[in-house]
Amino acid sequence: MTEVAENGFEKALAAHAEAVERFLSRALDERPRSDEIDRPVRLVSAMRHGVLNGGKRLRPLLVMESTAVFRGDKAAALRVAGALECIHCYSLIHDDLPAMDDDDLRRGQPTVHKAFDEATAILAGDSLLTYAFELIADDETLLSAERKLALVLALSRAAGLGGMAGGQALDLEAEKVQPDEAGIIRLQAMKTGALIRFACEAGAIIAGASPSDRETLAAYGSAIGLAFQLADDLLDLTATSEMMGKATGKDDEAGKATLVALHGVEWARRQLDGLVEQAEALLEPFGDRARTLKAAGRFVAARQR
Ligand code: IPE
Ligand code: IPE
Ligand code: MG
Ligand code: MG
Ligand code: MG
Repeated sequence: MTEVAENGFEKALAAHAEAVERFLSRALDERPRSDEIDRPVRLVSAMRHGVLNGGKRLRPLLVMESTAVFRGDKAAALRVAGALECIHCYSLIHDDLPAMDDDDLRRGQPTVHKAFDEATAILAGDSLLTYAFELIADDETLLSAERKLALVLALSRAAGLGGMAGGQALDLEAEKVQPDEAGIIRLQAMKTGALIRFACEAGAIIAGASPSDRETLAAYGSAIGLAFQLADDLLDLTATSEMMGKATGKDDEAGKATLVALHGVEWARRQLDGLVEQAEALLEPFGDRARTLKAAGRFVAARQR
């Protein structure tokens, strides 16, 4: 990527991050909404801690930019972007729990179970997961019932048994029984790929794009989703905890099955280049409207955080 393109992407990432953080901060207000009985103060603070703590907000950018490809509604896209970020943050809160990766640091701050306690971290995750679907279904999301239902269906599949949560289960099993290459790719496509794929597909659903365009965007999401986890595994081995804001070097220590562990760092770097090229080619037909979305592939592969 040229420096200009890179700066353009970073600017877009920062602008979308600011908008989604403003939206999430309002959505996670302490005051109960008129149709709620109450919002427990400690639980809301734990949710805010787990959400408003400086993530890259890559998935929201993908929702916003995939919507822009089809000139879909920006306000609706922002709500879906916020909903997806709630699910992503819930997945991180639970991933860090002692029963899972047992991590103390996330986004440069104490993890939710460290800053609060384990039970509160579990409930903050539960509440964020549920809230995501509420945000989409809410009357304030100005989309037809048909499009909302399609979003709910795609997001629940991406987050659940056959998606992220299922992938997390396979990831834990893989610490005991080493999967082969196909097994690693499958578990990564589920634990990380599924939400990223949804993020890219979401724009097509929001804008009511054709089934074939939706399929293309989903394929783009799958390719960069795989690249994203490959980069994460590479960074776990090569980056410092200060750079990442989370512990590094843990995959190797845990004997975690990753493609980097299987094939080495050089292979992983070459593989990343190939995946990004493959992903970019998919967006060719959309021309300039897909410029920022296309740049996301390079960002994912080259990221240092
Ligand atoms: C980290 O995701 C977890 C994985 C799926 C590997 P991100 O790297 O997007 O984390 P944040 O949101 O920027 O903290
Ligand atoms: C976690 O993968 C993916 C999800 C949270 C679904 P990792 O365990 O590798 O993520 P990090 O490295 O803790 O961010
Ligand atoms: Mg994990
Ligand atoms: Mg982890
Ligand atoms: Mg990791």
